[in-house]
Amino acid sequence: MKDYKREIASRVASLEAVSSAGLGEQDVYDIIEAPQDTGLGDYAFPCFRLAKALKKAPPAIAAEAAEALAAPADLPHAPAAFRARATGAYLNFFIDRAAYCADVVQEAIVQGARYGSSGIGMGRRAIVEYSSPNIAKPFHIGHIRSTVIGSAIGNILGFLGYEVVRINHLGDYGTQFGKLIVAYRRFGSREEVEASPITALLKYYVEFHKRAEQDPSLNEEARLAFAALERGEEEERALWEWFREESLKEFTVVYELMGIRFDSFAGESFYSDKMAHVVGELEQDGLLESSEGAKIVDLDAYGLGKALITKSDGSTLYITRDIAAAVYRKEHYGFYKNIYVVASQQDLHFRQWIKILELMGRDWASDCVHVPFGLVRLEDGAMSTRTGNVVFLEDVLTQAIEKTKAVIEEKGVVTDNADEAARQIGIGAVIFQELHNNRIKDYVFNWDKVLNFEGETGPYVQYGHARAASVLRKAAEKGIDTSPGALAGIRDFSAGASDAAFALARLIGGLPAAVSEAGEKYEPSLITRHVTDIAQAFSVFYHDEPILSDEGDSRLVKLALTAAAKTAIQNGLALLGVSAPERM
Ligand code: ARG
Repeated sequence: MKDYKREIASRVASLEAVSSAGLGEQDVYDIIEAPQDTGLGDYAFPCFRLAKALKKAPPAIAAEAAEALAAPADLPHAPAAFRARATGAYLNFFIDRAAYCADVVQEAIVQGARYGSSGIGMGRRAIVEYSSPNIAKPFHIGHIRSTVIGSAIGNILGFLGYEVVRINHLGDYGTQFGKLIVAYRRFGSREEVEASPITALLKYYVEFHKRAEQDPSLNEEARLAFAALERGEEEERALWEWFREESLKEFTVVYELMGIRFDSFAGESFYSDKMAHVVGELEQDGLLESSEGAKIVDLDAYGLGKALITKSDGSTLYITRDIAAAVYRKEHYGFYKNIYVVASQQDLHFRQWIKILELMGRDWASDCVHVPFGLVRLEDGAMSTRTGNVVFLEDVLTQAIEKTKAVIEEKGVVTDNADEAARQIGIGAVIFQELHNNRIKDYVFNWDKVLNFEGETGPYVQYGHARAASVLRKAAEKGIDTSPGALAGIRDFSAGASDAAFALARLIGGLPAAVSEAGEKYEPSLITRHVTDIAQAFSVFYHDEPILSDEGDSRLVKLALTAAAKTAIQNGLALLGVSAPERM
């Protein structure tokens, strides 16, 4: 589709005043914005930046520029697709709204499920690591953020042409398994674990910590058990494998419920035989220092403290596995970017090991990106695995579905299949809520907010999509050809370029840019916000403009815009991992 902003930028950049102020086309492009008040224009070029170079007041510059742009001498080629007008310090532009609507609608309808995508990442491989829960511990509401944000980032990068490898770096290794083995041996029961694995294992873990407070020797016993596991002792190994398997079964239930998938479950244990090499290399590079029998890398010079690489008994740590994992991934996948969607509390950890890789001479260290996010809290307080005060994600999801079912019944929402609708809407609501704010913000999980059909929520946006679907269905029932082929063929929008229609078209037209920005910034909330805006604009359009009761070209044009809005919302929701039911 024609890039209107680019066209305007090129004309503005060709003005003598602008080039003499040292601004090129790209500078102009970056400065151009959308006026707050849409009555003032469709694009605006603020003239402040020219004032100093031209030694003139911005309003005078704007006025002269508008005049120059209107002068025929300045239009050697085709007639301009826009009109310029000065308002204060701004050079404002009005584009041909009907032509713009036609362009956007055609693009969205023709591209369908691909609308908003691009090939910018083509030929590049991006690893996205997310979720990564710890086995034998509950998959709690705190994990949902990594899972949902990471999965959405994977979808977005895939839509931008990257080849995405989705990895779940399971926390399936480390001293906590020593604790669990000891706990199980001392007071566990096989029946209990088999009946409800994570609940049982969590109980043992909590109990272990309680007892270890009284009897610190338990910690030493646990350390020895983990060392035995690392040596590959049969009994410890078998117990660990069993804990892992049972835990994975429970995680899988959640992933399936949410439609989340992975290409690899290579977790921490996968690197158990790959760490010696890394430790050896660190030793050779002279980066390791001994400290009371343990080995550390001193990062004080970088303000990053000291990183513990091996304990005094030789056992490895979380960070050792992350270094080994990055080295392995580079060799195995040859990534362009290696992205980690992990809570901001682990900031120091990531800065430490990425710095260590850099010191090891890995020039690709800077391609390892930590994408942090803030905390989620439930209204009634924080969560901690140690005290057992946790909320299981599976319960949250099941509750979301139950509550949605109740809302659907109360509202008398018509669906093909109430259970499936409740699942799509309930899970969609939880995912949408997670992706609503900038990821770095902490937030409080609140049921009323999540399931509110009127707020900026998943159900609201899904409802906008379903309403568009319903309009198109009813039109088809009236015998109107609403096939993509027919609607995409409409070129004359002069019958329907109302303010509401144009506002909606602009948002639909903005989807591709929102997707690429979300990919660049690893920020799915940009898409959440954008689809919310589209749904709101569609709602205004729908209320302002009679569609089905209209006639002729005017009705067709509105139906085409409705179809384009539906496509844009659906694609945006798909990127977030939220389904878009046809009926609601
Ligand atoms: N298992 C860790 C946790 O639950 C998250 C793992 C993050 N990924 C990584 N490569 N360190 O806290």
